[in-house]
Amino acid sequence: MTDIEGVGAARDQARVLIVDDDQNLLDSAARLLRGDMEIFTAASGKEALAVLDSCGPFAVIVSDLKMPGMDGIELLSRVSRSHPDTVRVLLTGHADMQAAIDAANLGYVYRFLTKPCPPEVLRLEVKNAVAFADLLRDQRELAVLKRCKVLLEGVVRGFSSLVEARDPYLAGHQQRVTALTLSIGREMGMTGGELETLRVAGLLHDIGKVYVPTDLLSRPGILREEELSVIQMHPEVGYEILKHLDQDWPVAVIVRQHHERMDGSGYPQGLAGRFITQGARILAVADVVDAMCSQRPYRSSLGITKALEEIEKNRGRLYDERVAGICLELFRNKGYSLTEPSDNLWDFSD
Ligand SMILES: [Fe+2]
Repeated sequence: MTDIEGVGAARDQARVLIVDDDQNLLDSAARLLRGDMEIFTAASGKEALAVLDSCGPFAVIVSDLKMPGMDGIELLSRVSRSHPDTVRVLLTGHADMQAAIDAANLGYVYRFLTKPCPPEVLRLEVKNAVAFADLLRDQRELAVLKRCKVLLEGVVRGFSSLVEARDPYLAGHQQRVTALTLSIGREMGMTGGELETLRVAGLLHDIGKVYVPTDLLSRPGILREEELSVIQMHPEVGYEILKHLDQDWPVAVIVRQHHERMDGSGYPQGLAGRFITQGARILAVADVVDAMCSQRPYRSSLGITKALEEIEKNRGRLYDERVAGICLELFRNKGYSLTEPSDNLWDFSD
């Protein structure tokens, strides 16, 4: 008989399938384990495979060895292939010990228990098997996260170099801005996801320049008003490119606002004060410092002294008071300098 309803079925409980041709043993095992986990039962190997397919995923399967038709070892060897994430436990008599050891050595079985198995031992061993299944699941999820992280790094790196390849004056700019942005963020007490958001926003903050014709980006001399307005669309274009990123990571919003100024004189939305997100206030200061220190088609580098004077002069008016203060402190008293981008900028592990 198959108990496809489950016994003691709470949604987030681990699912455990008990397989035995002895109905009394199935009933007592279900009574013993209910409450701690969601118990399903099957009276044969064939039935067990059907339950695994229709009611899974199962954390653990506990099977008797001797059953008519498909025996426990054959069942668990099949489960090891069809449901490799289900932890497999074999119940065996002393006479079949060698067969159980062989099954364990072949990887079909995580653990075998000898019959008769005292209730407290069965309960403990099944709980251990569930804990092992949880551990395996966590390891799998961690492996997926690591692959996603590598994927994210690759995508961000590719996007970042895409815009810099189109604008030779931008080479290394986004990375230097990111390094300074992260340093300011850390000084402000940011950690974890906040820093990762800053990192991605910094590395991609000028992505919207893919929309700007390359001759406009590298043309020396003063640009006409309509040409300037094309360049000034890049935060909005960047926002459009990035807006589908995770809502918990406001990368797109920071990118959209990185040319906004505290008095409302920036672009594209003319936001002021508290309407500008903190990440954008940090990025804005770092962006100005690096831009002033970089060569541009229409001027040579103005140098760090001039850049810091600009931040100091407009501290609280154009630039966030606290962010500007931390930036000045970093350069003047903490030995910070705009260095060439380092490889660990791409390491998303803060
Ligand atoms: Fe920009």
